[in-house]
Amino acid sequence: MAQRPYVIDQMISAKSIAAQVETLAAAITQDFKDTDKLVVVGLLRGSFIFIADLVREIDLPIEVDFLEVSSYGDAMESSREVRILKDLRGAIEGRDVLIVEDIVDTGHTMVGVSAHIEQRNPARFRTAALLDKPSRREVDIKADYIGFEIPDEFVVGYGIDYAQRNRNLPYIGKVRFTDEVRS
Ligand code: IMP
Ligand code: MG
Repeated sequence: MAQRPYVIDQMISAKSIAAQVETLAAAITQDFKDTDKLVVVGLLRGSFIFIADLVREIDLPIEVDFLEVSSYGDAMESSREVRILKDLRGAIEGRDVLIVEDIVDTGHTMVGVSAHIEQRNPARFRTAALLDKPSRREVDIKADYIGFEIPDEFVVGYGIDYAQRNRNLPYIGKVRFTDEVRS
């Protein structure tokens, strides 16, 4: 796909992300301190860096699993339909499950994933999202643990891509197209 030219403006520094990940992990550790059956489930691919940092700050005997669902392809708009591309490897019935997502945007992914998990009768089910764009929401859902609320901007970095690029940026940046006519 032909890409429009763009630059990336830093929005959230690596240092701010690290501090917030530590805060979220402390809350998760506190909330799940009475259980030894927590499974932390990363949504591929966008959450891979977030979950890697998050689990290293969670001071509990956890397991890690991954789920991949279809999303944007190379476009910037959600398909509003969730297909399971790669399912969990482990059983979660009677376990505590924490879903780790990169961004909650329209909310359709979170709704679809939640339904998929709840069908399997976990004991407790919670969700964490590094970023939340509440102004974009189309369905009524909110993550239990949220890193940062951000405005309606298309962002990349720290695992998050634009057409598969920029996942390896250590910070979160917003995409600014340079062929846009400014008013
Ligand atoms: P939702 O189903 O609309 O909530 O979309 C959630 C998914 O869309 C996220 O997991 C991301 O993969 C993708 N997404 C939403 N906003 C952005 C963005 O600003 N940059 C890159 N991907 C995004
Ligand atoms: Mg995603």
